Amino acid sequence: MKVGETHYRSIWHDSDTWAVSIIDQRWLPHRFETVQLDSTADFATAIRDMWVRGAPLIGATAAWGMAKAIERDSSDAGIDATWELLECTRPTAINLRWALDRMREHVRPLPIAERALAARELAVAIADEDVEINRQIGLNGLELIRAIAAKKGDGKPVNILTHCNAGWLATVDWGTATSPMYHAADAGLDVHVWVDETRPRNQGALTAWELGSHGVPHTYIVDNAGGHLMQHGEVDLVIVGTDRTAANGDVCNKIGTYLKALAAFDNDIPFYVALPSPTIDWTVSDGVRDIPIEERNGDEVRRQLGRLGSERNKNSLIVDSGNSADGATTEIAVPPDASAVGNPAFDVTPARLVTGLITERGVVEASTASLAGLFPDLQVSRSA
Ligand code: MRU
Repeated sequence: MKVGETHYRSIWHDSDTWAVSIIDQRWLPHRFETVQLDSTADFATAIRDMWVRGAPLIGATAAWGMAKAIERDSSDAGIDATWELLECTRPTAINLRWALDRMREHVRPLPIAERALAARELAVAIADEDVEINRQIGLNGLELIRAIAAKKGDGKPVNILTHCNAGWLATVDWGTATSPMYHAADAGLDVHVWVDETRPRNQGALTAWELGSHGVPHTYIVDNAGGHLMQHGEVDLVIVGTDRTAANGDVCNKIGTYLKALAAFDNDIPFYVALPSPTIDWTVSDGVRDIPIEERNGDEVRRQLGRLGSERNKNSLIVDSGNSADGATTEIAVPPDASAVGNPAFDVTPARLVTGLITERGVVEASTASLAGLFPDLQVSRSA
């Protein structure tokens, strides 16, 4: 998608040198910075410390991490070592293991001399496939939004609530949950997006930045506002992304997603999950019980990152912040230093609360039978 006048993907390579670059998402929305990744340690740090984040982008970055490592060492032992190092960077997003497995299984049977080029070509293909999958999700989700707009018929926008950032920054391009929103806006539908801030990392700020850059009307809200808005008819549907969806349709996504699903269920509001097929974990039949939930560093809860602004909050208790460097990015402490903190990064929404899964092959019920029926080819290859 566009940043200013330039079209960016979230990860890309130089077609002459094969150098790989990413957008360093730690500083968004306040600073747009790109950085080149080269060593396996670079890729591991970028994934672990969330310079890149979002399940599909984590997968694409891992694929490139493998490809760059194989340029330097194409041996079986070298490939296995890179797989091990990258696989433990983040535990929940299944696209990470999916991409590493796919790279290794593709390259290992080849003669050593052919491995580097084959690995690069597959990394390119994985990134390109992600873009196409998300485009298809957008087209399928667009029809849902179109139907709701037609049914509403009150001249008001279709109000969509989303949680976290399942936008183009979390994928290679388009996003998963945002792709239907972008397609709807491009098709001239009147849409408005409620963007949950998504504590503690505030990925909602990334979503707001993206939507704003694309001209999609949106409102940034605190995480606890969604239920109230739903009770008062201000939400027509919810669309979120997913980091891992079990074979039975249980959906693991950013912490707080489950509460939104409960509120949507109580208010009879459709709750959709944008699901690219690489995010399905065919080996897990009960997501609530078996998907590992990443517990991140408590400092993410203790501290908040933000930009110093010249406009002071009128109700602010701060008379003089003592720091006049307006525009600078800074970190502040929030709870008392002595308080214990917890930071589970994801939760699992049971399939029974999910209205439908928006996949690249169509919209289906969140159930074992529906997923197996839609992806018989993938299901067989995983469980074989
Ligand atoms: O911890 P993050 O920022 O990597 O988590 C991202 C999310 O939870 C997204 O909503 C999810 O990965 C879907 S990305 C298309």
